[in-house]
Amino acid sequence: MNILVIGATGDVGSEAAKSAVKKGHRVRALVRNTSNRDKLGEAKDTIEFVEGDMLDKASLERALEGMEAVIISIRLTEGEQKKGRTYQDVELKGVTNIVEAAQKKGLRKIVHVSASGVGPQCVSDMYKAKYQSEEAIRKSGIDYTIFQPSGMFKDFAFYHIPTVIKMGVTNKWPGPIDLHMSPLSHIDLAKCMVDALTNPKASKKTLEIGGPDCITSAELLNMIAGEAGIPTTYTEGVSKDQLIEMVKSNPQKSFFSVEMIKDFYNDKRLDFKIIDEIFGIEFQRVGDFLKEAVPRVKAALTKQGK
Ligand SMILES: NC(=O)c1ccc[n+]([C@@H]2O[C@H](COP(=O)([O-])OP(=O)(O)OC[C@H]3O[C@@H](n4cnc5c(N)ncnc54)[C@H](OP(=O)(O)O)[C@@H]3O)[C@@H](O)[C@H]2O)c1
Repeated sequence: MNILVIGATGDVGSEAAKSAVKKGHRVRALVRNTSNRDKLGEAKDTIEFVEGDMLDKASLERALEGMEAVIISIRLTEGEQKKGRTYQDVELKGVTNIVEAAQKKGLRKIVHVSASGVGPQCVSDMYKAKYQSEEAIRKSGIDYTIFQPSGMFKDFAFYHIPTVIKMGVTNKWPGPIDLHMSPLSHIDLAKCMVDALTNPKASKKTLEIGGPDCITSAELLNMIAGEAGIPTTYTEGVSKDQLIEMVKSNPQKSFFSVEMIKDFYNDKRLDFKIIDEIFGIEFQRVGDFLKEAVPRVKAALTKQGK
């Protein structure tokens, strides 16, 4: 199949592009002249690159020429924010532009990555833009698969693991510890995205996707502490409502706004059987990821003297 990947220089999109190349698809990527293509590894030599931007309709139409499907894995990055662009610009207008160009060029399939918890009830700019972009795809008349991934392992390496290591022996986590999630590797997500291009079971579906381990945040933190050799059991956290009150009283200190916390912190118990029946691939387990990632992050922190 001829596939355009938009977001091919990102974490999920690069894995989708590499997986599509491995599966024998002809892959083209829409990139900016500033995009770092390193994550694509050897696949760089096989992928055809077209320079453009989702907000530049002409470049989208150029990139979609001769394509049959598009994989969208984009988000409002820091770089986009520095340009003054908002969630509405990138995550809504950008995706709407892609849908319009895909309709014009007669594409057969759209595969899109959204996020767990996205729906009409959302109140934050980020999740509202994600929901409206999902709706634009669902109403496009083009076959689609929209993935709503639960937490991804890569975020554990970025946030949870270094925080547990830096906090050391403690039983108190600064966020909720009782919420369930079914985290997954972004590499497994990318494999499912490529499979969805041709898998009739994934046709016209909005799929909540996660791995086989349904765990609470406390269970995750305790697994990390165990791997790191920190004699700690997390038994205390703050509730979602307490977190919201804390951010309201001290907003400048928070990474998330109140609206983002409302949308982001959800207790989700996914039925993995649904995913397994559609894709039937073996997902990496949380424990196996942590065995590899905790020593790696620990070594990096030691090197940085943290
Ligand atoms: N992290 C998680 O745990 C998680 C969980 C659930 C859902 N998600 C969702 O998964 C999706 C992919 O996330 P990710 O972490 O892979 O993102 P990422 O690594 O930040 O990649 C974002 C990609 O979007 C591209 N992009 C941004 N603005 C663009 C524009 N105007 N025109 C063309 N390309 C543009 C970027 O290109 P450049 O390289 O040129 O900047 C980059 O390739 C996002 O929608 C995210 O919200 C993530």
